[in-house]
Amino acid sequence: MTERQPFIAGNWKMHKTLAEARSLARDIRDGAAPGRRAEVALAPPYTALAAVAAELAGSNIRLAAQDTFWEKQGAYTGAISPAMLADVGCHYVIVGHSERRQHFGDTDAIVNKKLTAVVAAGLTPILCVGETKAEREADQTLQVVRRQLERGLGALQPATGTDLVVAYEPVWAIGTGLTATPDQAQAVHHFIRSLLREFLGPPAEAIRIQYGGSVTPDNAATLLAQPDIDGALVGGASLKPEMFLPIIAAAG
Ligand code: 13P
Repeated sequence: MTERQPFIAGNWKMHKTLAEARSLARDIRDGAAPGRRAEVALAPPYTALAAVAAELAGSNIRLAAQDTFWEKQGAYTGAISPAMLADVGCHYVIVGHSERRQHFGDTDAIVNKKLTAVVAAGLTPILCVGETKAEREADQTLQVVRRQLERGLGALQPATGTDLVVAYEPVWAIGTGLTATPDQAQAVHHFIRSLLREFLGPPAEAIRIQYGGSVTPDNAATLLAQPDIDGALVGGASLKPEMFLPIIAAAG
């Protein structure tokens, strides 16, 4: 079986002033054991990227952005390009988060443009997929995940398993305190792995698939113990070191 390094990322969403972001980044940097098994990344809002990059310099915690625009530069008021994110020190860029799909109109086609631009800039996308409550209740989970993954990836052919991360985030589990059970999550992760094999071939074995949706120190270990759950994309609990650090520790 392919060894995949567990990957725990904190998505801070629209939270934290500069001073708060610096302080949180320091607490995580100083609290996460340097010799740990898990890779760790932090995704602060755009305004705090440079400040958090400075706090993380010299550590083995990576910087991530929560979104991007697909053009390189130009008259696109309010937008941030992948090249700008690379310049500020990002390694990862989240694309297709359900909150972008829900509040900002990101379609699968838009998600693919963003993913393609992220890869072209030499950064690694974290592609989010996941069904809504209504879709799960209508038994459409696998169709939805298949569509989002197939259209989101488009023509992408990662050379290695570390050029892409997928995050399965069931929308009904995000910020609700309702977590997918380890069995429910594993079933979808297993399905995603089979799709990655179908679309991408051998690199699929090494691609990390994170689970996201109300991950806490209480449920992290059982989720991460599932064979196809390779990490977590953490929202609310990543804003508090006393919650996030035990999740990192749970990954080994
Ligand atoms: P919560 O952990 O707050 O449910 O958020 C998950 C998420 O959306 C991470 O991207």
